[in-house]
Amino acid sequence: MRRKWVGGNWKLNGSRAMASALAGAIVDADIGSTVDVALFPPFPYLREVCAACAGSRIVVGGQDSSQHEAGAFTGEVSAAMLRDVGCATVLAGHSERRQFHQESNELVAAKVAQALAHGLTPVLCVGETLEQHEAGATAAVVGNQLAAVMERCGIAAFGHIVIAYEPVWAIGTGRCATPQQAQDVHALLRSQLARDDATIAGSTRIVYGGSVKPGNAAELFAEADIDGGLIGGAALQATDFVSICAAAG
Ligand code: 13P
Repeated sequence: MRRKWVGGNWKLNGSRAMASALAGAIVDADIGSTVDVALFPPFPYLREVCAACAGSRIVVGGQDSSQHEAGAFTGEVSAAMLRDVGCATVLAGHSERRQFHQESNELVAAKVAQALAHGLTPVLCVGETLEQHEAGATAAVVGNQLAAVMERCGIAAFGHIVIAYEPVWAIGTGRCATPQQAQDVHALLRSQLARDDATIAGSTRIVYGGSVKPGNAAELFAEADIDGGLIGGAALQATDFVSICAAAG
């Protein structure tokens, strides 16, 4: 039985005061006993959120990290730095990075490898655009996104990776995938892993993201291959996020 996982991706939102208050309220709700919970604040607020989560079961992560170890890469944040400030995890290949920062499958794979090398749990985000969805290309698109990481990192790495399926057309749109739509893609991703190693495929968490709210979380998480969620908008309200975590627990 895979333990469920719920992440809160705050994206480009908040302030120092809001980060402390939101993380504090989530920690106070004491939700980590039956579900793994991770918070992904903007980089400048990692310090506040790590402090709020210290001693709790909630882990903290970066929203992105560099494929480079160190050096002349202005604006980048390394996996080692994230570890250094107390992060345990990091998002890789979020669709907003792929879309607005032209991150390729190969670059995302390099970022996953670098995060793993520094002991972070990468959350590999995959998902198709609306155009690709309507063209019937979902399986090919997410399959290629996953294959690039399998090739670069090897199947054993998936013992330390969380996969997040986030259809781009569902992110921030209020148009959530149906449980069946998401389940079908999750099953496809799991079978792709299983072709290399059925045991690892059976234990890898594959979570869904895209307009998850307190009202639709339980039915999504009830699907056989949906192991939790990566939450955007609803992660900015402690009560909504906590209730989504409760639906996973
Ligand atoms: P929303 O929950 O706002 O749709 O965002 C999902 C997401 O992109 C999480 O990474």
